[in-house]
Amino acid sequence: MEQTIRVELGDRSYDVRVGSGILDSVGPAAAALPTVRQAAVIADSNIASSYGKQTADSLTAAGIDATLIEFPTGEANKTVAVFSDMLDAVFAISPAIDRDLLIVACGGGVTGDISGYVAASTLRGVRWLQCPTSLLADVDASVGGKTGINHATGKNLIGAFYQPSGVLIDVETLKTLAPRELQSGLGECVKHAVIRDASLLDFIAENTTEILACQSDVMCDLVARNVAIKADVVAGDERETGTRAHLNYGHTVGHAIETIAGYGTLSHGAAVSLGIIAANAIAVDSRLISPVDADRVRQALEALKLPVTYPGLNPDEVWEVMQRDKKARGGHVRMVLPTEIGRVEIFDNTTPQQVARGVAALG
Ligand code: GLY
Repeated sequence: MEQTIRVELGDRSYDVRVGSGILDSVGPAAAALPTVRQAAVIADSNIASSYGKQTADSLTAAGIDATLIEFPTGEANKTVAVFSDMLDAVFAISPAIDRDLLIVACGGGVTGDISGYVAASTLRGVRWLQCPTSLLADVDASVGGKTGINHATGKNLIGAFYQPSGVLIDVETLKTLAPRELQSGLGECVKHAVIRDASLLDFIAENTTEILACQSDVMCDLVARNVAIKADVVAGDERETGTRAHLNYGHTVGHAIETIAGYGTLSHGAAVSLGIIAANAIAVDSRLISPVDADRVRQALEALKLPVTYPGLNPDEVWEVMQRDKKARGGHVRMVLPTEIGRVEIFDNTTPQQVARGVAALG
């Protein structure tokens, strides 16, 4: 059963459609946008010949002239050079492309980020549709319009907030995901439950087997519930001047562990899971949540086969990496901590002792 979630952003509002087997609806969805005649479908080398081609074929069948642009897969290719190649490919479609060109991003988070930035940059902005094919992209990157590429200095340092015209999520694409990729999205699902919706944690606990098997109906519900949470957070603070930072719950210590382990060693979901355990331990220590609540979250993570321990971490090293990030945030080591399941607050001035407590919980 298809579900639609509206992302309310005034004249930049859009619908996220979630369903099983709906990738072939991208053609009619694009044709429904006024004056679209040409489209560039951007997909990485892993899926260009499968979902990328399926997307392009759907557009062609709807009377839209579609060109498939393939780029090499992976975060390492979210670069200025690959972005530049993509612009070359877009301008090669026709010497006279105009703002009626539609960009269609088909793939995971990297594809969405770079394609959205191509859309934002081409002729100062053309319309774009997102067809995410990974759980992480479904529940996180596809909602909220953060687009961009990496710079040698750091990740996502070049980019724009640029909202799509629509998002189409076909949960059938999750069935071909590697377990590590599924894990990456599941970390964000637990995060969303803790920051906004305790009943989502119950849903996850009750449907763990179906989730791990990517059972279509359950995945539709899981994705739709997560998209609704992300849409609500983004609608309240599109430019991340306040509460959008709640989405960083589990990511502060998580990013530090990701860096220490060597970027790419842990899946993003594994790092977030460890970050959640650390944040919750700090919250318990600060009497913000009860040990029972922290245990509930731990059990959900464990049931989803996400890691909850990472022995051998040096708390001083974790603190040092967090300090490096601190420079970018005006001198504070900021953490998002739960005050109950379903509610978080931002705490500035986290201390090294608190971080050591969080790290100890991972031992
Ligand atoms: N992934 C965090 C955000 O969209 O703000």
